[in-house]
Amino acid sequence: MDEKINFLKQRREIIRKGGGESRISEQHDKGKQTARERLAQLLDEGSFVEVGTFVQGNLQDASTLEIPLPGEGVVTGYGTIDGRLVYVFAQDFTVSGGSLGEYHAAKICRVMDLAARNGAPFIGINDSGGARIQEGVMSLDGYGNIFYRNTINSGVIPQISVIMGPSAGGAVYSPALTDFVFMVDNTSYMFITGPQVIKAVTGEDVSPEKLGGAATHNETSGVAHFRAKDEQECFAKLRKLLSYLPSNNLNDPPVADPVEPSLPAEELSRLVPADANKPYDVVEVIARIVDGGEIFQVHEHYAKNAVVGFARLGGRSVGIIANQAKFLAGCLDINSSDKIARFVRFCDCFNIPLITFVDVPGYLPGVHQEYGGIIRHGAKILYAYSEATVPQISVILRKAYGGAYIAMNARSLGADFAFAWPTAEIAVMGPEGATNIIYRREIEQSDNPNEVRAQKVSEYRERYANPYIAAARGWIDDVIEPAETRRYLLAALASLKDKYEERPRKKHGNFPV
Ligand code: HXC
Repeated sequence: MDEKINFLKQRREIIRKGGGESRISEQHDKGKQTARERLAQLLDEGSFVEVGTFVQGNLQDASTLEIPLPGEGVVTGYGTIDGRLVYVFAQDFTVSGGSLGEYHAAKICRVMDLAARNGAPFIGINDSGGARIQEGVMSLDGYGNIFYRNTINSGVIPQISVIMGPSAGGAVYSPALTDFVFMVDNTSYMFITGPQVIKAVTGEDVSPEKLGGAATHNETSGVAHFRAKDEQECFAKLRKLLSYLPSNNLNDPPVADPVEPSLPAEELSRLVPADANKPYDVVEVIARIVDGGEIFQVHEHYAKNAVVGFARLGGRSVGIIANQAKFLAGCLDINSSDKIARFVRFCDCFNIPLITFVDVPGYLPGVHQEYGGIIRHGAKILYAYSEATVPQISVILRKAYGGAYIAMNARSLGADFAFAWPTAEIAVMGPEGATNIIYRREIEQSDNPNEVRAQKVSEYRERYANPYIAAARGWIDDVIEPAETRRYLLAALASLKDKYEERPRKKHGNFPV
């Protein structure tokens, strides 16, 4: 017996060491931790339990201490974060560059299945040279099995990808199928074809970091949702994200102790300039309404004309969506449409109420936008809000014009309650544009067109650019003082706590992609 236990211990130790001391030093020299160090940092202390420790592709060596690829280049199992169960994998770059072979994939699929069956979030830490070249089509089949599970589990459990090294070729598609992608500055990159192939095909010169680093995917492509300066900060952000989410689609998010915002609500009325053309920071508005003044932004560096993120109201998680007047005057464009629609759908999957703060002049005009398909991208927001059945509340702060008024969750799209501040302007278009169309003849024929235009703009503003016409029709449930916003939201959310809405039976809708 002792001999057998000894053999077990030795085998386990070899597997624990992965690619061995020198490979581990190389990993550290690159500013990266090993797979096991990462899991220890991410999970609650001592909570990690490994699954499939002895999985091995090459069975001929199973009875010896010769283990060609310890752990098959990936560590899999489960543990807890803030006491809540999560399933995890961490690719081990010290073993064959973390490349994905048949049994590497099988280990990942096993924990994906366990996560789905037990209703727990699934987290993948990626650090891999991609498909294990020697295993050819077996590794491609392995990727297919992972993609399939990512898709089937979508909307059932939260799925989170962490990129902490290379993620190249088709390997990027598992992260792309998950709900959130985290990247770390200088050590992680994602691309379909690397710099060398690009140089050969198009002649363009680009570094890996510039092509697919954390900054690129957080600011330009929108592929990643979160960016961290190092691995420690990355895991701290991931743990925070999970604190807002339920473990699965049948559960509600965890409830925290309610905290009043630290900044005074009275400041709200002077934060938003009455002049509809003046910018301000909508994050400052949100900070005076939500618990502790804290919003955890998603896609913070992408499509900055919209702000989306998680916050709490009365201790309960909510998804915040807002136009950001500081960028592009808060217009909706292609990228912000994608950003908002995806976030709305995530919240709806996972029982997180939607709070929308509206100050939007319209969809962004421009040839680029039209050629890029703003029609099809803009439609995503309409679809996402209309499809949502979670509690939905809108607050119109200032401008709400045209199609963008509807898109930002008007009552007609399914908002349960819509409130407006006295500064709200709800109309088909802004006073200047409207005046140029409906009073064109009068302005052209007058002796002083500029004066007549200015007078008509002012008349239009007074007559139409206010919240009371929409309120008279009942599309706005109440016009409220800015300082009362939190109180109205808390009451509305409480009244919607048990909201239940059915949809017609269908296989699935045809979301505009
Ligand atoms: C097998 C691999 C490997 C791979 C790396 N290794 N990638 N082994 N298959 N895909 C091995 C190396 O041979 C080496 O082993 C060890 O891992 C470390 O690799 P290095 O090259 O020494 O590390 P580094 O210099 O840091 O470079 C890392 C790298 C590079 C940039 C990732 O290894 C690389 O370019 N690898 C190939 C990437 C690639 O083209 N993958 C296929 C993508 S296509 P030894 O024992 O010699 O030290 C794809 C399709 C998926 O993934 C399709 C899904 C649908």
